[in-house]
Amino acid sequence: MDQSGDLTKIRREYLGRGLSRADLHEDPVEQFRMWFEQAKSLRSDDVSSMTLATASSSGMPSARIVLLKHYDEQGFCWYTDYESQKGVDLAENPQAQLLFYWYGLERQVRIQGSVHKLSAALSEQYFAQRPRESQLSAAASYQSKPIASRDQLANAVIELESQSFDGKVIKPDRWGGYCLVPSKIEFWQGREGRMHDRLVYQREAEAWSVQRLQP
Ligand SMILES: Cc1cc2nc3c(=O)[nH]c(=O)nc-3n(C[C@H](O)[C@H](O)[C@H](O)COP(=O)(O)O)c2cc1C
Repeated sequence: MDQSGDLTKIRREYLGRGLSRADLHEDPVEQFRMWFEQAKSLRSDDVSSMTLATASSSGMPSARIVLLKHYDEQGFCWYTDYESQKGVDLAENPQAQLLFYWYGLERQVRIQGSVHKLSAALSEQYFAQRPRESQLSAAASYQSKPIASRDQLANAVIELESQSFDGKVIKPDRWGGYCLVPSKIEFWQGREGRMHDRLVYQREAEAWSVQRLQP
């Protein structure tokens, strides 16, 4: 193998403080909030970026970064094009996993659950508050579909701009939000010697159970 592709010598210690059952909030969404706020205070850039993993009905996985835009007891939400690759996967198989990794804190959180679309009214509300350039590119871009050139996309934006009434960009029906309703949330804290802490909440009827997993 080409030496530049050999990453086996890259190694560092994870010196994060520990995570014990007694530290955990009984509500995993509150636990997530605590970790999220700590990550935010450490670095404001891309703290809300998360990997969204979906799978087609045939089981082919597909992962990409999206931005978390709201979260609460109801679920974790992001916005996208419903006709994109992820939209096609979610229409076939409405289950997904979200993954956060916060550098510097040596923490990851995995959130698994079922996914549903947000209401058109909520999507509309969020679309309206986006910068105009983002509205135009979301409306012009048929996400995940091939296009002959960048110029073709730029022309589609110019065309839309000339059509937009009173400066208002209309949200396409194919653009909107999704919400993942968690059934399982794992908190992972890196520790020395790869003796990492892993605590996983699992939804059981109305309550959450917690288990420690081996690293
Ligand atoms: C930091 C970052 C944030 C992103 N946020 C979003 C997002 O919120 N929504 C979205 O549709 N794509 C977002 N993308 C682009 C996606 O990663 C991806 O390219 C796109 O959604 C198409 O994915 P798909 O073809 O698998 O559906 C983001 C990419 C990066 C690197």
